[in-house]
Amino acid sequence: MTAPLSQRGRLAPASPIRRLASLADGARARGVHVHHLNIGQPDLPTVSAMRQAYRSYDCATVAYSPSQGTAELRAAWADAYNGQGLPGALAPITADDVLITVGGSEALQLVFAAACDVGDAIMVAEPYYTNYRGVAHLLGIEVVSVATAVTDGFAIDVAAMEAALTPAVRAIVLSSPGNPTGAVIDRPTLEALGALAVRRDLLLVLDEVYREFVYDGSGVAPSALAIAGAEQHVAVIDSVSKRFSACGARVGALVTRNRALFDVCVRFAQARLSPPTVDQAAVLAALQAPFDEVYASIAVYKRRRDVLIAALREIPGVVAPCPAGAFYLIADLPVADADAFCRFLLERFDHHGETVMLAPAEGFYRTPGAGRSQVRIAYVLEEAALLRAVDCLREGLRAYAGG
Ligand SMILES: Cc1ncc(COP(=O)(O)O)c(C=O)c1O
Repeated sequence: MTAPLSQRGRLAPASPIRRLASLADGARARGVHVHHLNIGQPDLPTVSAMRQAYRSYDCATVAYSPSQGTAELRAAWADAYNGQGLPGALAPITADDVLITVGGSEALQLVFAAACDVGDAIMVAEPYYTNYRGVAHLLGIEVVSVATAVTDGFAIDVAAMEAALTPAVRAIVLSSPGNPTGAVIDRPTLEALGALAVRRDLLLVLDEVYREFVYDGSGVAPSALAIAGAEQHVAVIDSVSKRFSACGARVGALVTRNRALFDVCVRFAQARLSPPTVDQAAVLAALQAPFDEVYASIAVYKRRRDVLIAALREIPGVVAPCPAGAFYLIADLPVADADAFCRFLLERFDHHGETVMLAPAEGFYRTPGAGRSQVRIAYVLEEAALLRAVDCLREGLRAYAGG
């Protein structure tokens, strides 16, 4: 006899991004080099201000911090927003609006739990960041999805979202710049989403963890924190994981001007006591330093995007909208079942001793069967390796069609 498992536990969805990991291990065991385009772990160094802060951190006791994060970090986080002009014409963001969390992931948990009861629903636009489903599942929350299309760059259709609302939906949850599409929601669409949230009394949760990862030179993606009139209906998810190339620091934030929502999230956060103390000190140093390294890394990702898109578009039958932000894109491949093709690449294929690991996009969709011919590509490899990975994809498609 083993200890009982909850139904919720037995039904927990596995991450579609990690599902093929054992096949990649198998390829490596056969001596094949695997280019990983499947996972969004930035390969660039963590910003130097954070590394310096870790090196010089010294205290007698690593104590808990306040549950909402250190006062210094919350103030610096708010200052960074205001310095980026994020609130637009609205009142500046203050430290009181910023709750420090254990990565953006915990901010998602807190805000979903604060907005929804068991049996309520969140609405997403598919393809979507699948951890929204993982967090929703943990909390007994349903996921309602609205389709977007590869053919128009995964643009959000606010009218379609409104038409698909059900009485159970409490929050609309979107990422911009988006994972897995790289699409950036423009200001008019954000304003329409804000108006929808107010009109239908919903919470708009905008996941802005890739905020600086925009390639049109604007420096920062349009933020939900700047939607006039929707202040009480907006919560923003933030994180240093991508911005500072510091995924392991586990520091993020929930930002909202809605006091009641904020206070509920703080009460939930009290149950986990504290976000990490040492990492908060390191993030404080990075937020107070100039963002030069951040913007230098964005320039690197932009070059990679351009190289990748150009190479992908030379492969017959591949459709890949050019992503405006983040470091992902969805490509439609000339195969019926991208999952089977991704397995083939790892199990039965190599090109001069190399192959490529991609994330089948089906797992980023809620609708069964949607996205079957698509893959998500994360461009977190240097340009030369990216090009070799695309060579493997092209040759793999050829071998797959022939075999
Ligand atoms: C869209 C999006 N939101 C949130 C997260 C969570 O990031 P973290 O918990 O590392 O801050 C990620 C990580 O990949 C992401 O892609």
